Amino acid sequence: MSDSVDFMTYCGSKANKVVPVKTTRSIGPRDCLVEVTHSGYCATDTYFTGVPMGLGHEGVGIVRRLGSAVTQHKIGDRVGWGFVHEACFNCKQCLSGGEIYCLKRKIYGYGNTDQGSLASHAVWDENFLFPIPDALSSAVAAPLMCAGASVFGSLQQRGYKSTDRCGVVGIGGLGHLALQFAHKMGMEVVAFSTTPTKKEEAIKFGADEFYVLPENGAAFAETDLRRIDHLLVCSTAQPDYHVFLNILEPRATIYPLTAFEKDVTYPHLDLIFSGVTIQGTMIATKQGYVDMLRFCVKHKIEPVNQEYPMTQAGIEACNHDLKAGRMRYRGVLVAEGADRSSETILDPETAKAEPEEVVIKVVVVADGEKNGVSNGSNGDSNCHSATEVA
Ligand SMILES: NC(=O)c1ccc[n+]([C@@H]2O[C@H](COP(=O)([O-])OP(=O)(O)OC[C@H]3O[C@@H](n4cnc5c(N)ncnc54)[C@H](OP(=O)(O)O)[C@@H]3O)[C@@H](O)[C@H]2O)c1
Ligand SMILES: [Zn+2]
Ligand SMILES: [Zn+2]
Repeated sequence: MSDSVDFMTYCGSKANKVVPVKTTRSIGPRDCLVEVTHSGYCATDTYFTGVPMGLGHEGVGIVRRLGSAVTQHKIGDRVGWGFVHEACFNCKQCLSGGEIYCLKRKIYGYGNTDQGSLASHAVWDENFLFPIPDALSSAVAAPLMCAGASVFGSLQQRGYKSTDRCGVVGIGGLGHLALQFAHKMGMEVVAFSTTPTKKEEAIKFGADEFYVLPENGAAFAETDLRRIDHLLVCSTAQPDYHVFLNILEPRATIYPLTAFEKDVTYPHLDLIFSGVTIQGTMIATKQGYVDMLRFCVKHKIEPVNQEYPMTQAGIEACNHDLKAGRMRYRGVLVAEGADRSSETILDPETAKAEPEEVVIKVVVVADGEKNGVSNGSNGDSNCHSATEVA
């Protein structure tokens, strides 16, 4: 059997439209060909729809072919994958359980840009495919691959106590899972939202308290609000941290998960005087994924999904609903029954040559320029240049 496969990947385009593109891949010794059945749709994807690259990084599917040296999966297995696709497994980070911070890693948007989880298939290194427990449906598992792993991984990697108070800012895809995780980890959970109508659901997810974020930098009206030990920032805009100054416990930890937005700014002297930590984190480690999936089974943690067909139109509708603030709480694209008969699959060159109709904030950088510590991402040579959203 040939080790080369053709499949279809939904890509972004310069015209800011989702287009189906033919991807050709060889299956390396450690690779698995996965038929995609479900994909979650993360807010991070909305930053890449204007970039000619494979979209989606919350994939779940079925292993259909194996490279000659694969040992961890077999044909027919149900697996999922997220933001990180490859690491060297031989550097200081890899050898100490920090493979997601490997300087040679490949991550969504910067490496393997010819494929994604919005696709018919994808070919991935077996090391970053995670077996899905039988107790979790594929639609439930998909949003856990990025949203779930990001919030669980933040708390797990840096540590928490069940007596801590955990704040969650922004009750969206990440935030509604963060409320559930923090609650089941035994913490007191405090939701902060710009949407008052989410209160009832936030409490069902596990929030003990719910506060509407004050507008225009005003302080919280609640003078008796007890201080927070962990602040998971899951909003698509950076909050005004001055507002949180008076409700963070000294030596609290802030996890600013908001990506591709403004830089975090925090009053410097207050940071020194209070010993607050601003902690960068990205997704869960490999062991973190295994732990997270077991934790979800044990504690019956599930995302609340809005399903769409995995078609061009379905992805566009999902993207539109997310950007319009209508998602409750995670969009999931479903391949079964999706009618793609009217779609024309473009070859990669045609897809890249599309006219530029919509200008978005994209800076194109040369391959290989992105492998520093500042972002740790790694360029890729088998597709277009890596891109970074400004
Ligand atoms: N670091 C990581 O590992 C990582 C991983 C995944 C995603 N991310 C990033 O995390 C963020 C959240 O992703 P998501 O998929 O959960 O997004 P999402 O589903 O759109 O949820 C974001 C939430 O932010 C709040 N929000 C929306 N617009 C806002 C505004 N203008 N000002 C303040 N709050 C606003 C809303 O919650 P309320 O209605 O409750 O206010 C919204 O539901 C994105 O920036 C994404 O790129 C980071
Ligand atoms: Zn994501
Ligand atoms: Zn490494």
